Amino acid sequence: MSGAGEAAGLGVGDEVEVEVGRVAHGGHCVARHEGQVLFVRHALPEERVRARVTEIGAGSRFVRADAVEVLGPSPDRVTPPCPWAGPDRCGGCDLQHVALPRQRALKAEVVAEQMQRLAGLTVDVGVEPVPGADDGLGWRTRVEFSVRDDGVAGLRKHRSHEIVAVDRCRIAAPGVTACEVTARGWPGHEAVDAVAPSVGEPVVVPVPSDPVPDVRERVVASWLSAAAGATVAFDREFTVSARGFWQVHPGAAATFLAAAMAGLDVRPGERALDLYSGVGLFAAALGESVGPRGQVVAVEADAAAVAQATAGLADLPWVLPVQARVDDAFGVPRPTRGGPRRRTGRPRRPTRSPLLPATADVVVLDPPRVGAGTGVVRAVAALGARAIAYVACDPAALARDTAALVAAGYRLESLRAFDAFPMTHHVECVAHFVPSAP
Ligand SMILES: C[S@@+](CC[C@H](N)C(=O)[O-])C[C@H]1O[C@@H](n2cnc3c(N)ncnc32)[C@H](O)[C@@H]1O
Repeated sequence: MSGAGEAAGLGVGDEVEVEVGRVAHGGHCVARHEGQVLFVRHALPEERVRARVTEIGAGSRFVRADAVEVLGPSPDRVTPPCPWAGPDRCGGCDLQHVALPRQRALKAEVVAEQMQRLAGLTVDVGVEPVPGADDGLGWRTRVEFSVRDDGVAGLRKHRSHEIVAVDRCRIAAPGVTACEVTARGWPGHEAVDAVAPSVGEPVVVPVPSDPVPDVRERVVASWLSAAAGATVAFDREFTVSARGFWQVHPGAAATFLAAAMAGLDVRPGERALDLYSGVGLFAAALGESVGPRGQVVAVEADAAAVAQATAGLADLPWVLPVQARVDDAFGVPRPTRGGPRRRTGRPRRPTRSPLLPATADVVVLDPPRVGAGTGVVRAVAALGARAIAYVACDPAALARDTAALVAAGYRLESLRAFDAFPMTHHVECVAHFVPSAP
């Protein structure tokens, strides 16, 4: 029987030669050695590599490994533009060794595979570039640097607390690099955020800080739509806390907004919901589109973001930002792991918020990485919306929620995917759903 540090004879640190198979979700490819599954980072499909085992997976069902020597390279292999990328180095990027077009092709395979496996749907999706940073570098407008006990700031290794003292991050935006976080000492801090807003000077936020600085970021999103026969547009400035949520790629917010709104075709006078609304990016566009005869309810858990949405959308008084967890607002029990069910024996069922309408014409969902979950998806479906836009940063969560939406009477009408995180395995999707029975 294999122990915690070995699987089928393989132990951490062992090296084996393997033929690399398909890409898998999470930034690695699948290989096999004597029946043992290996998830190999820094490799490409159809390569032959020497893989070094880095971790034995749960139940010894798989092992994690790094390609430490390439014996038969793929034609799509390139020299990583960042000297800190590679086995046992910075863990931020998974795909620096892959030509950009192949990075996108691999991400498309992952999206299709997740939709097939978790939703039973066959989709044909390409991954589209996001405008800006055409070489895949210099796009990341927010970077959280970790700080070692000796005060040196750097970036973490993959699945490790170890911090690599990089000189700079090659995917960081010029404004982040200009902060020179790694050139300074940060004794007494756990982390340092560097943020390059689209308006104003870059911002540095040491964490923790006493007192915590109330640093705000100003970001601009442009949007133009000719949906429903009327042209609506904005070039709107949003205020975001420096540690609050905003898309990190400078072209992402406008790209996702245009993609989500194009599929909704929102009409004046309609009722819309923006769930997981942040500072109100989608709520603003929905508000412009429904006009004063319509209504938008935007639900977001983070109090600072809701306050910023309330102030920022004051010119659209028919948009109502609501501070609540989306599951609480719908009266759906929260996920139970480690939660109330264990302590009380009964799930806590919150009361449905009276601020949520019973029906809606259109819904935008933009949940965090875990997705919305079956309870929320069912509650959304019960609104009877004629169209739903789902913006997803994790294709597995999107696929699980797609399965729940299909079971609740919707069908996937369209799916687009965007390369908003070049050099990493991350990919953003925008999906549209309509009722399966008109
Ligand atoms: C991917 S972000 C999207 C934000 C916004 N739609 C945007 O594009 O800027 C997800 C948002 O969901 C919020 N959030 C996380 N869990 C939540 C929950 N259970 N209920 C409501 N909001 C939540 C986060 O604070 C974050 O603002």
